[in-house]
Amino acid sequence: MGAVDLSADLGFIRLKNPVIPASGTFGYGEEFQPFFDLDILGAFVLKGIYKKPRKGNPPPRLHETASGLLNSIGLAGPGADELKTIIKRVAAVTSTPIIVNVCGESDEEYQEVAEIFDEMEEVAMLELNISCPNVQEGGKCPAQDDKHTYRLVKRIKDNTCKPLMVKLTPNTSNIISIALSAEEAGADCLSLVNTFLGLAVDLKTRAPVFKNVFAGLSGPAIKPLALKLVWEVAKSVSIPVIGIGGIFTGKDVLEYILVGAAAVQTGTVNMVEPCASVRIIDEIEYLMKELQIKNLNEIKGTLRI
Ligand SMILES: Cc1cc2nc3c(=O)[nH]c(=O)nc-3n(C[C@H](O)[C@H](O)[C@H](O)COP(=O)(O)O)c2cc1C
Repeated sequence: MGAVDLSADLGFIRLKNPVIPASGTFGYGEEFQPFFDLDILGAFVLKGIYKKPRKGNPPPRLHETASGLLNSIGLAGPGADELKTIIKRVAAVTSTPIIVNVCGESDEEYQEVAEIFDEMEEVAMLELNISCPNVQEGGKCPAQDDKHTYRLVKRIKDNTCKPLMVKLTPNTSNIISIALSAEEAGADCLSLVNTFLGLAVDLKTRAPVFKNVFAGLSGPAIKPLALKLVWEVAKSVSIPVIGIGGIFTGKDVLEYILVGAAAVQTGTVNMVEPCASVRIIDEIEYLMKELQIKNLNEIKGTLRI
C-alpha cells in the first residue's frame, strides 16, 4: 500500500496528524524542542494558565501507581502576561497550531484569560479547562454542573473569536449532559478526559500521600475508562471529540478514532518518554498501512456493536 493520509479534520481546522500533546504534560512546547522538531505534531496544548502567577500545591506533587500517575500540581504557572512572551518565542520556532489551556477561579477570570489569548495571532485555539475549582461555587468545578458549563462556555464564545475546545472531567455522573450543554453553548469541539480523582495513602504516617487528599489519576490505568466515555460522548454530540486518556502507542490512537474521536491528546507518555510523539506518529502510519486504512475518516466512529 502507498502513502497513507494521517490528517485529522476538525472541520474548522485540519491537523497534519491526530497527535496533540496534552496540557500540563508538555510544558510550553519549548522544553521539548531539544528532543524533536515541534513541526511534526498535529498541534500542542500549553500548561493551563490563570491571569496571575500561581505557586501551585506543596510537594509531593506526583506519585506513581500501578500503570498510572497521580498528580496534584495545583495548576502552577507564570500568569497570562509571562505566557504571552513564551508563546511568541515558541511560535517563532514552529508552525504547528498552539492551543492555550484557559483556567479561572471565577467565570470573570476565565473570560479575562480567554480574551487575552484570543487577541494573539500565534494562538490557533483555546481549550477551556472547566475542571478548575471555582471559588464562587465552593470549590466545585464548572464541568460538574451542566448549567454552569452552558453559562461559562456561552460567555467565552460570546466574547472571543478563536475556535473553542471544551475539556471535560470524568469526575461527574452525567458527562453526556455536560457535553451536550457545552455543544449547545457553542463549543467548537470537546476534549475528554481530564484526570480521574484518586487517593493514595501512606501506611507509616497513616495519612494521605497528598496534602489535598485526592489527586488526579492519568496514564494507561485510565485508558479503558476514558475510551468508554469518549465513545459515549462521540455518539451523543455532532461536534468533533478529541480523545484523551492513557495513550501510549499508535494502536491506542487508532482505537480512540475507532470509537469516534477525530484526534487525540497524549499526556503522561510525554513525561515518561520525551520523544513519544515521534514514535506514536510513526506507529500510526505503520499500523494504517498494515490494516490498509487510507485515511482516519475510514475508521472514525465505525466501532461495530
Ligand atoms: C502532571 C500533569 C499536569 C496536568 N496539568 C493539566 C493542566 O494544566 N490543564 C489540563 O486541562 N489538564 C492537565 N492535566 C491532564 C492531562 O492534560 C490529561 O487530560 C490527563 O493526564 C489524561 O491523559 P493521559 O492519561 O494521557 O495522561 C495534567 C496531567 C498531568 C499528569
